Amino acid sequence: MPSFPLSRRTFLQSISAAAAAPLVPRFAWADNLTFAQDFLWGVAGSAGETESRANRGRSNWDVFIDNVGGSKDGTTNVRNTEFETRYLDEFKLLQAAGVKAFRFSFAWPRIQPETAGAPNARGMDHYDRMIDAMLEHGLEPIPTLFHWDMPLWAGDFLDRDVSRKMADYAEIMARLVGDRANTWLLFNEPGVIPIFGYGQGVFAPGYRSRRYMGAALHHVNLAHGRALAAIRANTHSGTRISSAFNIMPFEAPSGTAEDRQAASLVDALWNDAVPRPAYGLGYPELVQPLVEPYIQNGDMEAIAVKPDFFGLNFYSRSFVKADPESPLGITLVEPPAELARTEELPYDPDTYTKVLLKAHQDYGAPDIIATEFGFPVAEAAPKDGWVEDPLRIQYMQGYMRAAHAAYQQGVKLKGMIYWSSTDNWEWVLGLQKRFGLIHIDQPSLTRIPKRSLEYFGKCIRLNGVA
Ligand code: FCB
Repeated sequence: MPSFPLSRRTFLQSISAAAAAPLVPRFAWADNLTFAQDFLWGVAGSAGETESRANRGRSNWDVFIDNVGGSKDGTTNVRNTEFETRYLDEFKLLQAAGVKAFRFSFAWPRIQPETAGAPNARGMDHYDRMIDAMLEHGLEPIPTLFHWDMPLWAGDFLDRDVSRKMADYAEIMARLVGDRANTWLLFNEPGVIPIFGYGQGVFAPGYRSRRYMGAALHHVNLAHGRALAAIRANTHSGTRISSAFNIMPFEAPSGTAEDRQAASLVDALWNDAVPRPAYGLGYPELVQPLVEPYIQNGDMEAIAVKPDFFGLNFYSRSFVKADPESPLGITLVEPPAELARTEELPYDPDTYTKVLLKAHQDYGAPDIIATEFGFPVAEAAPKDGWVEDPLRIQYMQGYMRAAHAAYQQGVKLKGMIYWSSTDNWEWVLGLQKRFGLIHIDQPSLTRIPKRSLEYFGKCIRLNGVA
């Protein structure tokens, strides 16, 4: 099936083919970029960025954001998009567009608000009903167990025992929705938690220490292993479980030995320090000294759970130089001028193809689901019930083409999930960073579709890149 609109390349190819054989025009439909039949087309969100604080316990992010005096734009997560009471408005728009799957997270502070033990009935009932509503709207539920929001009573990842609490919580959720969810994500971006939350101090809980980063990393891995085992033990055998690993290559544009060395350490920490141990490949050599003091007998076996597929979040590369003052040993530098930007993020499709190929090679050709890709762009105010966001459509097309290029080279890409369903509270960046396919009007919180949602629907109908 041809794809529309015609790209410049296809157009040029087609006219040159026609010129060569004018009597029998041959159109080279090189852009027939379709995926395998059972491809998973979804959108994502998370509790911490969309649900309000109502009817749940206090979380690590509530405390952190209150302590730092709000996000960059002065907003907090008190109200967010009130997803927990308004999800039907969103599901209706997604269903109308043809979206097939919905990635969301459970708020642990809604399930066990004040303490360990028996779950809160109201919280359980909420997710039970929400999942039924997803199914009624043709959306396959893809739960994320832990997307960074942790109940205060559970402490933090400096404590080894957190893995036991996490496994209990995992078992509760598996029993609740295991009959309806076939694809699970345990952690969102587990590697980001120790780096940003315990090393750099820019995410909850806000510690700034290299030593804490090592402890948290190992305990995140332990919790990851134990939670995966708990979900496996309490769901049917067809359930596939992984995490959404954020893959972001680090480069040192200066090329000096010092900068390259600093970039290699952070690259190993960010990209390899969770998936490698989870796949039974151990800690990367550069990371080993940071975690060594915390490893106990049997830990590496408990961690090596071998996920059933590789969940891959990708946005762009990162550019750094050495900075001995920072716990992580680096500081960010400007991306090369030739890379286009989506606000602060470089637009980096070629790297997307590369990271997909690398995950394929590094982890034994696993099935891969692109669990996040997305773009914050400047966009017009809503008009006549729609938001025009042509730049987002252009970037989406570029990243989907890049993913398709990897697929054509043998990567077992099984799905693509756009981040995010709606505009939401983008952690420390606040409400101004808009990634959504659906606009959230302020202060009414009315959901208004963007043209990018319509475009994504076209891709879904085509089962490929429109
Ligand atoms: C990802 C996070 C998600 C959101 C997007 C923009 O790294 O998983 O929660 O912040 O970035």
